[in-house]
Amino acid sequence: MACSSFDKHNDKTIDATMKNRVASKENCCCCIHLLSTVNDTVMYMESTILIIGASGQIGIELTMALRSKHGNGKVIASDIRPTSDTALLQGPYEILDALDKPGILACIEKHNVKEVYLLAALLSATAEKNPEFAWRLNMEGLFNILDLAREKKIDKIFWPSSIAVFGPTTPREMTPQRTVMEPTTVYGISKLAGERWCEYYHQRYGVDVRSIRYPGLIGYRSEPGGGTTDYAVDIFHQAIDHGKYTCFLKADTKLPMMMMEDAIRATIAIMEAPSASIANRSGYNIAGCSFTPEELAEHIRKEIPSFAISYEPDFRQAIADSWPGSIDDSCARTDWGWQSEYDTALLSKTMLQEITKKKAEHIATPR
Ligand SMILES: NC(=O)c1ccc[n+]([C@@H]2O[C@H](COP(=O)([O-])OP(=O)(O)OC[C@H]3O[C@@H](n4cnc5c(N)ncnc54)[C@H](O)[C@@H]3O)[C@@H](O)[C@H]2O)c1
Repeated sequence: MACSSFDKHNDKTIDATMKNRVASKENCCCCIHLLSTVNDTVMYMESTILIIGASGQIGIELTMALRSKHGNGKVIASDIRPTSDTALLQGPYEILDALDKPGILACIEKHNVKEVYLLAALLSATAEKNPEFAWRLNMEGLFNILDLAREKKIDKIFWPSSIAVFGPTTPREMTPQRTVMEPTTVYGISKLAGERWCEYYHQRYGVDVRSIRYPGLIGYRSEPGGGTTDYAVDIFHQAIDHGKYTCFLKADTKLPMMMMEDAIRATIAIMEAPSASIANRSGYNIAGCSFTPEELAEHIRKEIPSFAISYEPDFRQAIADSWPGSIDDSCARTDWGWQSEYDTALLSKTMLQEITKKKAEHIATPR
């Protein structure tokens, strides 16, 4: 949340009140960072937010949401690959490798970063194809950021966990916050280990790290990044373009899903909540809606009656079979006021409308 003195801080000099804040080392995410005192004039630099993995499915939308809240210059988007996405280029964009700790530290110092959202990871399906590298990226990337917080280079971290922390021995329906967790994928193992390390760094070193177990995320703005729930994004594109879709999961595979708008709202809400209300420093269950491919196809048929779906399950079926069908998110609701807004009907309608609009705009303005 923006500090109430934010407007005042936009001046290059600060008054006596502000000097007192500096003297008492009082600070907040939008607040000042003391650089030097020149002729009794205190120079400062505003603190910023860094997103690592900003070019991905979540990163683009999170960057846009945080920039519209705090201003373009206050949110540093970064990724290992360059971008031509105009939304990401509205503000600073850095090439950054989550495995390069000195590079991250240099970026943090350059921009006076105080909050980091670490999104870079290999997702479930991609990770199964390269387990060693998935483990390395997902764990070493997290340690780099946790250690920077432990070394007091940054104040606050968001790190996403996933419903992949659960496994086939977990109760499948209304999966509780605390339950049996025996993940069978390298992705799930890395997320569960990451959760335990987040908790450990909080308990042992006081690191302010916050985490959500995202379900499958459904958005229209960018391509999905290699997860087991990707079908629920592809299906809308194929329905609009070709009126049919071949699904890589079985018709009755029920999984927890969430509209991207809800996920972004949850992410910002947990980061803005008072530290004392975040009782759980591993990962919070959050629920949006749960559906099977056949149920989603039914919703699509309300808008495109001739839509046809067929099924050719592949290796991702085994991953999906190991995950919950629905999630109990009562802890997130109690602790920091989480509430989803999109049910399956609204999700489906919004996806069809927005993708159709995007495709029409693309045709109207060819590149
Ligand atoms: N999308 C989902 O449904 C979902 C569900 C649960 C959890 N999550 C988690 O949310 C996070 C983001 O997911 P996403 O869907 O946006 O993934 P994505 O694959 O779409 O995006 C990840 C981004 O990280 C970048 N990246 C990869 N390696 C990097 C490196 N070494 N350094 C810097 N950047 C690097 C990629 O270029 C990509 O732009 C991940 O931690 C993922 O596990 C996502």
